[in-house]
Amino acid sequence: MAHISDLIATDIEQYLQAHEKKRLLRFITCGSVDDGKSTLIGRLLFESKMLFEDQLAAVAADSKKYGTQGEALDFALLVDGLAAEREQGITIDVAYRFFSTDKRKFIVADTPGHEQYTRNMVTGASTADAAVLMVDARKGVLTQTRRHSYLASLLGIRHIIVAINKMDLVDYSEKTFRRIVDDYRAFASQIGLEDVTFIPMSAFRGDNITAPSDNMPWYHGTTLMDYLETVEIDEDRLQKQPFRLPVQWVNRPNLDFRGFAGTIAGGVIKPGERIRVQPSGRESTVARIVVQEGDLEQAVAGQSITLTLADEIDISRGDVISAASSPAGSADQFETTLVWMHDEPLLPGRPYLLKIGAKTVTATVTHIKYQVNVNTMEHIAAKTLELNAIGVCNLNLDRPIAFDPYAENRDTGGFILIDRLGNNTVGAGLIHFALRRSQNIHMQHVDVDKAARAALKHQKPCVLWFTGLSGAGKSAIANLVEKRLHALGRHTYLLDGDNVRHGLNKDLGFTDADRVENIRRVAEVARLMVDAGLIVITAFISPFRAEREMARSLLGSDEFIEVFIDTPLEIAEQRDVKGLYKKARCGELKNFTGIDSPYEVPENAEIRIDTTLLGANEAADYLVLELQRRGGLSG
Ligand code: ADX
Repeated sequence: MAHISDLIATDIEQYLQAHEKKRLLRFITCGSVDDGKSTLIGRLLFESKMLFEDQLAAVAADSKKYGTQGEALDFALLVDGLAAEREQGITIDVAYRFFSTDKRKFIVADTPGHEQYTRNMVTGASTADAAVLMVDARKGVLTQTRRHSYLASLLGIRHIIVAINKMDLVDYSEKTFRRIVDDYRAFASQIGLEDVTFIPMSAFRGDNITAPSDNMPWYHGTTLMDYLETVEIDEDRLQKQPFRLPVQWVNRPNLDFRGFAGTIAGGVIKPGERIRVQPSGRESTVARIVVQEGDLEQAVAGQSITLTLADEIDISRGDVISAASSPAGSADQFETTLVWMHDEPLLPGRPYLLKIGAKTVTATVTHIKYQVNVNTMEHIAAKTLELNAIGVCNLNLDRPIAFDPYAENRDTGGFILIDRLGNNTVGAGLIHFALRRSQNIHMQHVDVDKAARAALKHQKPCVLWFTGLSGAGKSAIANLVEKRLHALGRHTYLLDGDNVRHGLNKDLGFTDADRVENIRRVAEVARLMVDAGLIVITAFISPFRAEREMARSLLGSDEFIEVFIDTPLEIAEQRDVKGLYKKARCGELKNFTGIDSPYEVPENAEIRIDTTLLGANEAADYLVLELQRRGGLSG
């Protein structure tokens, strides 16, 4: 039931032009259906009389082409926010609606209210200029209201409207309104919300939505529509921030033109201004600002442009071009807030991909400082983060990135985490600040290096990384391999699970998180030993592919040899040398690999030993031969 403005009928050109010039406000509504949220949205759409049929048709066409909702309309296609997530195909439950008035265009993201929908709210809120929090006048401020407020403030939404709805059901009582306002204010100051506007309304009856209500003469504030038509759009604030252009792609159609394209994430830029490229730190001057229609004298936050520079400097996709006088930071360790969005919990020490702007790097959580109870704001200790949990975490990246604190710039301070094997978006994060230690620790050059140490030992250092179930025979075969290599005069070291867990890793148990940390430490130690010139043999269950891949990534391509000691569970269980399977079966031992903790079978191990066909001695002989064949014993 779309109403089309008269102008569309009479002068479509003029109409489109006027519409084009209108500014866009993005806002989010929070609350449950019971609070009257759907009624409110319906009323806004109805009162604005502007649901574009052609717009909807376009979305329908796009939805079929790119959409994730099958034949249904994918309103996410209307917004450009979190494009990265869309590429990742994350399932989100946010409905976007579009409407407009004479003054502005609006996109409203409607997110469900239940606790498990934190992730959806994060998705809807990350580009929002304002949030409308629905409060039922009969119920007042609820836990859910607090949770939504906290998330809105966390996600950097600067303008909060507390819509105190259903005033008609409390006789339009000023006293009720005041009580809720006081309640909310006490809480808002606690979480640092600054700009909060309270509007008493009845979405159902239309009080204070577009016209001031006669039923509440005691209220002299703004109507909701007035507010939405005048509140500051974040882009305007961003124009006052220092210039930032995350480079989406390098445009080089011919040898004479080299442009850096992207959407301005902050500030204003003019030809002739000095810029700095990060993380490299190189500087130059803007030569031209190019858009499809020609060159610009100036460009501002929100505009998509191509910059050319006076000097030939190396810039690639993912770099950030900053105002030289006020550049973005550059660091590889941060304190952040993470919102976990995946069924599989966050595991500190596990490498994830971190995508910030157009840049993707590898990141691990080094420490979960605390988890936030989103209902009470309490800080609680946590070893992992489960779906929808929010925690303050330290992060370590494999390379420095350009960044701003999220509080200053959501584009250059917000990121997503992607799981490396499944390629799913698993978390969203906000940068607080760079850890100072990352700025104060530099790699020290040493003169005696791996090659020198290896040459002295006449060998090629490497790791034989054994993996397999408990009782598969890893330790026994590893021991025989080391004995043989030792007899051949090789310099070796055997890192064995049970042994390392008596010393370096005696603080670790067998939860997923502890196993990840176990393997992270062992991988680092193995790397140091390879650096020392040794042939290292590791014998750990190492049940997860992600950590085996992480260990592999720490070493050179011919230095890591994954050896799958393949023993079927039934056989390992039959042997049960340590009696642990028995204990696990009768519930005395929890999280036992193969029983109630997973083992992810290697997909690309260099060597597989089938222990149903080879005895331990034969396996050891075979491995020594393999090592020889791969050149591991020469030098
Ligand atoms: S890993 O999963 O973190 O790689 P690791 O190889 O260090 O494990 O230790 C495995 C050894 O610890 C097993 O061989 C077994 O002797 C012992 N163990 C004790 N509890 C467990 C358990 N719950 N799951 C697996 N192994 C266990």
